[in-house]
Amino acid sequence: MIFQFGIVCLALSLGTDAFFVEEDHPRISKFDLSENVFRYNEDANLNARELISKYGYRGETHKVTTQDGYILELHRITGPNSNPNPENKTAILLMHGLLSSSVDWIISGPKKALAYMLADKGYDVWMGNARGNHYSRSHKRLSVLDKQFWQFSWHEIGVYDLPAMIDYILDNTESQKIFYAAHSQGTTAFFVMCSTMPKYNDKIIAMSALAPVAYVGHMTSPFFQILTRFAPMIEAGMNLLGMYEFQPTEKFMKNLKALICDPEAWSQPICENVMFLVAGFGSDQMNRTLLPAILGHVPAGSSTKQFIHYSQMVKSRKFRQFDHGLIENYRRYGRFTPPDYELFKVTAPVVLHYCVNDWLSSVKDIEILAQQLPNVHSRIKVPHPPFAHLDYLWGKHANELLYEKVLDIMSLFSQK
Ligand SMILES: *[C@@H]1O[C@H](CO)[C@@H](O)[C@H](O)[C@H]1NC(C)=O
Ligand SMILES: *[C@@H]1O[C@H](CO)[C@@H](O)[C@H](O)[C@H]1NC(C)=O
Repeated sequence: MIFQFGIVCLALSLGTDAFFVEEDHPRISKFDLSENVFRYNEDANLNARELISKYGYRGETHKVTTQDGYILELHRITGPNSNPNPENKTAILLMHGLLSSSVDWIISGPKKALAYMLADKGYDVWMGNARGNHYSRSHKRLSVLDKQFWQFSWHEIGVYDLPAMIDYILDNTESQKIFYAAHSQGTTAFFVMCSTMPKYNDKIIAMSALAPVAYVGHMTSPFFQILTRFAPMIEAGMNLLGMYEFQPTEKFMKNLKALICDPEAWSQPICENVMFLVAGFGSDQMNRTLLPAILGHVPAGSSTKQFIHYSQMVKSRKFRQFDHGLIENYRRYGRFTPPDYELFKVTAPVVLHYCVNDWLSSVKDIEILAQQLPNVHSRIKVPHPPFAHLDYLWGKHANELLYEKVLDIMSLFSQK
């Protein structure tokens, strides 16, 4: 799957206005929607806790404060109402990806969504929310209107948010160690945490990486290919994506839509939603009935720097810290280029779940990642070629194609 790196992009007036000329790249094609998409779906307007209760599970909300003052919301499922006292209770932390939230893990409903499947099996399920998303927009001192609030990428999610949530879970349960499973950016943050603070490896039984993202040199997402052209000019990228919080300008969205969606698909709701423009769409796994509910929950909020950090690595083809420019790099890192994350320090067992039709997590990049990680338990390809990046969360058959496998492998570790 090699797509030509064929987008020519002329930046006009300091990069705030972009002119896109298109060539060959993946695209969102027309999707047979039927009338369902326009039908009201109550789940679009329920929050995570309300969804959990509605579908017959016991939910809890917990607040965790990070070392640098962000107040994060964790959602927990302690089990189905029908089974009040499960005997075995190993905890698992589920971590969402870019522009997402804990709702990723429950929106498909019982028997379909990973969080419910885990709860049915007797796991104590915790779902994280990274700083800046819908549920984690508070800070001890800062407000979301402060520029300072948004000065983070997924590096800080890995260095502050994950450790705070993991320690909180360990302090508030009987578990000595927990499982970790994540989608996309949730895997990136895990690799950041375990490479920069290796003692966290000892707190993890095993990590299930769904659509792992670390090396991104072979990403095919046209969104990131455009952004990569602005990454050397951080301010220009910031302007395009809406300064500090990710809120792309109308003009940028319009250009992006025209570039990424086939003309017949332009008017469809997936082409108005930046989540799909970033992560792609086009497989046979999208559930038409579920789509309105999904659209009520994404995008769930991110900082602009999360995007800029990825796009820097699309260019450098390295998995490394944020590039602040020569002088600031020297001040922070004592060198002119950002240091690489030392993946050989990620000693927790990692299971890599991947697929061949993913705009963000390419097979080549996963090979590079697998070579660097010292403890890859297994690499498992989703046995369905059209399966794509967002299907890991909402795919019609994600339960059979993916989650059952995730559960099987976890039970191997439970028995050890
Ligand atoms: C918990 O126990 C049940 C039945 O005893 C078993 O089916 C399930 O796999 C166990 N779950 C975990 C997390 O060990
Ligand atoms: C599609 O989503 C609806 C609403 O959540 C659900 O009832 C239905 O079972 C789903 N269909 C498939 C094939 O997963």
